[in-house]
Amino acid sequence: DETPAPEPIRLNFNAVAKSNADLVTVPEGYQVSILHALGDPIHYGDESWKDDGSETAESYDRRIGDGHDGMYYFGMSDDGKFDPSRSDRGLLCVNHEYVVAPYGLHPTGRITVDGKRPAEQVDKEIRAHGASVVEVKRKSGSNEMEMVRGSKYNRRITSATPMDFGGPAAGNAKLFNKLSPDGKQAFGMNNNCANGYTPWGTYLTCEENFLNVIGRAAGDDAQRSATEIVALKRYGLPENRKSPYLWDTAEGEQYQRWNSKVSAASAAEDYRNIFNTFGWVVEIDPFRPDSKPVKRTALGRFNHEGAWPAPAKAGEPIVIYSGDDARNEYVFKFVSDAKWDPKDINGGVAAGAKYLDKGTLYAAKFNNDGSGEWLELTFGKNGIDATNALYPFADQADVVMHCRLAADARGATKMDRPEWGGVNPLNNEVYMTMTNNSQRTAATLNAANPRVGNTNGHIIRWKEEGGQAGTKFQWDVYLFGARSDNKQSENLSGLTAVNDFSSPDGLHFDQRSANAGGLLWIQTDDGSYTDVTNCMMLAAIPGKVGDGGKVTTKEGQATIMGSKPTEATVRRFLVGPFDCEITGVVVTPDGKTLFFNVQHPGEDAEKANFATSTFTSYWPGNQPGITSSHKGLKRPRSATVVVTRKDGGTIGI
Ligand code: FEO
Ligand code: CA
Ligand code: CA
Ligand code: CA
Repeated sequence: DETPAPEPIRLNFNAVAKSNADLVTVPEGYQVSILHALGDPIHYGDESWKDDGSETAESYDRRIGDGHDGMYYFGMSDDGKFDPSRSDRGLLCVNHEYVVAPYGLHPTGRITVDGKRPAEQVDKEIRAHGASVVEVKRKSGSNEMEMVRGSKYNRRITSATPMDFGGPAAGNAKLFNKLSPDGKQAFGMNNNCANGYTPWGTYLTCEENFLNVIGRAAGDDAQRSATEIVALKRYGLPENRKSPYLWDTAEGEQYQRWNSKVSAASAAEDYRNIFNTFGWVVEIDPFRPDSKPVKRTALGRFNHEGAWPAPAKAGEPIVIYSGDDARNEYVFKFVSDAKWDPKDINGGVAAGAKYLDKGTLYAAKFNNDGSGEWLELTFGKNGIDATNALYPFADQADVVMHCRLAADARGATKMDRPEWGGVNPLNNEVYMTMTNNSQRTAATLNAANPRVGNTNGHIIRWKEEGGQAGTKFQWDVYLFGARSDNKQSENLSGLTAVNDFSSPDGLHFDQRSANAGGLLWIQTDDGSYTDVTNCMMLAAIPGKVGDGGKVTTKEGQATIMGSKPTEATVRRFLVGPFDCEITGVVVTPDGKTLFFNVQHPGEDAEKANFATSTFTSYWPGNQPGITSSHKGLKRPRSATVVVTRKDGGTIGI
């Protein structure tokens, strides 16, 4: 009794033109509203954002953070349980990745006095990071959604929130520090970029550029073993390194935790290991506001862009894909030991411990002939042990904590900055954006990363062999980013004015697509096209792996690509305001409400002048049609935008 194949879908909106307007532009027949922006209070008792940076640091425990990024909507039943079918009420989890230049959350921007950051600014920045959980509900008679201010589910998780460690590295000596002498707890999460979600109803939020917050003192190498120095170097933290945020320069013992120097007799008495406490996937249960988040170490430690699950199937492992977003880093896959039992829905972080703390981590190898394999990263196998020439691994905790080194040792493929991924619910094929890579050279070209400098990026996809947990796959390139006026040898996918883009970053398979036929959203981050257009989001209906053929790039590198897109199958859906990134997208199960995030509008700090309220963007205050508390204000702010159709119909298709 096979269910009949769903009707093929088609895109049913007119493409939005490229634009440098300081506005969100959506197709005719669509409208936008602002759900929340930096500094909005989520409970009662705090004043609204005043547009002058006067809010206290302490109040950010109850305000929306900065740098909106990855996001997920969890439908919620009337009795407060995860209900994936609910479109009218739910919990929206949003990452607050970083404090955005020109630092509009401070009165006159971010300051440093005699090389030191003022403690009150650092305290505010610590609390503006992390994630938010807010209840959202539909306005009566409308598909528009608003935040339920004061809801008991509304919550901030910040760079100061206590968390537990789970998985192989929990309690490992390399996590011992003064705040957690037994290495079982973490304090805060940092630079949470993209995200994931679990079938049991928890949010996964991923620490990416955590090098922003950690410094290391001059002369520290002399205090370290050769093994430690190899690990610190591979993860980008040499001695005598100032962190970009300089949190460790503020006056007070509590700020010392942002510097990874050896300063006491034992690791349990200083912060030499603090660097190892970041770079993980964090699990948050949005339905239990008092629950403690858990860093799930089995999924590895690196510049975690996100953690994208394959659709769960009863009796099969949970499979999660991740990208390490740095130039020439890897794609990873985690396969749980435990098999999915649908009774675990609503199981919270206890279910997380069952599925995410024990399993196998792999790194991807993309071969030039279109085949690929998953290389297992397990202590004691394939030379991943104390005898390894690159790095002597002590145990599985060491392997997950330093999985970049394990992947180096196994010969995984160095990629063009893996960003977001997604699994097509129609056929379980996996997509991942390779945003760009200025360091891709002629000497390091391969079929999966076939362009020197890769200015415009590409989207790679693969089909697993032997089920989702299999260790072999077939891949091709779904789309090559390019400007439509580029030569054909750069515009390999034949993009036109209605669908050309550069630097793909966000990517999301619409979750209604199991019924609606594989609708893919693609978002862009800066790149080389901002002279012509602000960043954007496109809608796409992709084919499948193997539907194209071979092609040779202008560099002479042969590669494998999917069938060329047409204006019917890839189309620009929206363009964002000036100087922003478009990121974070999720759609209600009925397809009638879409959320996306505008990150860092007007981020050019050099051009900002707080005395005269002069910025390169005035968004969202200048967005026509908004009726909320955001209207008319000057400071540019990251925000979550709600998109609906004026006629109440489904979005995009
Ligand atoms: Fe935070 Fe890789 O983007
Ligand atoms: Ca990103
Ligand atoms: Ca990016
Ligand atoms: Ca970003």
